[in-house]
Amino acid sequence: MHFGKTILGTITLLLLVLTTNAQVFRWDEAVIYQIYPRSFQDSDGDGIGDIKGITSRLDYLKGLGVDIIWLSPVYKSPMKDMGYDVSDYEAIDPVFGSMEDFEVLLKETHLRQMKLILDFVPNHTSDEHPWFKEARKSSDNPYHDYYLWRKDNTIPDNRISYFGGSAWEKNALTGEYYFHLFLKEQPDLNWDNPKVREEIYKALTFWLDKGVNGFRLDVIPLISKSPDYPANLRFKVTENAAYTRSLMPGPHLHEYLREMNERVFSRYDCFVLGEGIGINPQSVCDYVTPERKELNLIYHFEVTDLGRNALYIPSKVSPLALKRTLSRWDSVTAGCNARSAVLFGNHDQPRMLNRFGNPRKYRTLSAQMLAMLTLTYRGVPFIYQGDELGMRNIRLKYRELEDVSAINLVKIAGKYGIPRGLAMHFVNKAGRDNARTPVQWNPHKNAGFTEGEPWLKVHPDYPLINAEAQQNDTSSVLHFYKKLLILRRKYPCLRNGNLAETDKNHPRLLIYTRSNSDCNFLIICNLTSRKVKYSLPEIARNGKMILGNYPDVPDASRILPFECRIYECKK
Ligand code: GLC
Repeated sequence: MHFGKTILGTITLLLLVLTTNAQVFRWDEAVIYQIYPRSFQDSDGDGIGDIKGITSRLDYLKGLGVDIIWLSPVYKSPMKDMGYDVSDYEAIDPVFGSMEDFEVLLKETHLRQMKLILDFVPNHTSDEHPWFKEARKSSDNPYHDYYLWRKDNTIPDNRISYFGGSAWEKNALTGEYYFHLFLKEQPDLNWDNPKVREEIYKALTFWLDKGVNGFRLDVIPLISKSPDYPANLRFKVTENAAYTRSLMPGPHLHEYLREMNERVFSRYDCFVLGEGIGINPQSVCDYVTPERKELNLIYHFEVTDLGRNALYIPSKVSPLALKRTLSRWDSVTAGCNARSAVLFGNHDQPRMLNRFGNPRKYRTLSAQMLAMLTLTYRGVPFIYQGDELGMRNIRLKYRELEDVSAINLVKIAGKYGIPRGLAMHFVNKAGRDNARTPVQWNPHKNAGFTEGEPWLKVHPDYPLINAEAQQNDTSSVLHFYKKLLILRRKYPCLRNGNLAETDKNHPRLLIYTRSNSDCNFLIICNLTSRKVKYSLPEIARNGKMILGNYPDVPDASRILPFECRIYECKK
């Protein structure tokens, strides 16, 4: 009996030690940093960023204080859509390096206590993927059913692809049409075919076995197609919303997500983030409610879509609309015990500073205010490379464009008689190349990005805006990010505290508290370039301001343009 008790005690102790030592992956308290590898750091002088370049910058990321690196695709690819057209899910494209380089990157990331998640593209492959090369040979090829075909050799409907033009492309070898939501070089996979799902699960497992810490799943809501596919639907080019609704969510979407979770993710301690194309506050919980066992987190486009009438037609962002959108997504996700993603920009968007800040007059101040908002609002914050330096949109000439969606837009606009100058105006304001210009590391040749000819123009403002200059300047945007990240690590309530917004209808200021049993903070952000009269609430006057973006003593009755402050308040 006594012996039994001792054994039981030892086992309990052992279990306790094991659980305490096990590093549970707290993705819900993490800060995500997105790397667009092509533009991050080149190491071999070919003008294209690569994996060794990323490894050489890991100390920078560690110094910044981020937790998870989201790596945009580095798989083998013909690069028609810059890597989102994958021709081998289990190989690294030589332009980025080798598998060995990747393993070194992963090891070095882990040595610095950071995590690495891969961007995975499950909705479509490249037309140069061996599956598609086989599939297109004949309709009885074993791979034919890996893709979506219109069997009767007629164009089924006038659906357009996201990148312009028909979503159907004729396959010369069989006379059939195949479906592609993006480029014609990105044929959509047929997820209703169990073999396709098996292949995808195998590829995901391959990377998890290598030690990656999870994935960002590209356009995940699109994988299951709607039941009337491929019915003869007709849309006007302007009926974007109806068109998008007709595509998702397909009837098996959540079934497939659960299956993927059960077959792959549940077997690893990993984090899975979805790109929530087309999701809305009514549907988000279907993806991220923990009990549903689908995804951990999904990001939406309602913030990045603010202030634009169509993909390429931007208009001014209304601060109130921004406040309401943030708050709506926060409360819906909190309601299903999930997290929301706090994301203002990525590789598919123009620079966040140009959309939500003032990139000229208040560049530093507005970039810092956006940093405070990103890192103190409730949710999982995302930093897109270069935003921590206050990088801005670039002005490109047509021949300097690299993004296929922008190039297509200008061509299509031309067909409709829209002058190229006007089309370029939109592209320069809203195009994806804006976020893809090389990261500005120092004031030397090509901003220190490459010794060679950069694949995309370096922003000419790099002598002024670069990491080296900001490392040495404690009033810089970079330092502000670092300070905020230190505060986040120090105070749990900034990571997981409750959020309560006050003055909800204030047209310029966003004011909220983050609090839990340990701490209580009040955050004030002026979302505009105007000075605002504001009388500080009692809790702030009794508290202590611990960070702000103006050098002077804060005014108790005015909040200056793009000013932001955090007050540590009494509990
Ligand atoms: C996602 C990616 C984008 C890509 C598209 C097609 O939206 O973020 O860059 O072009 O999917 O794969």
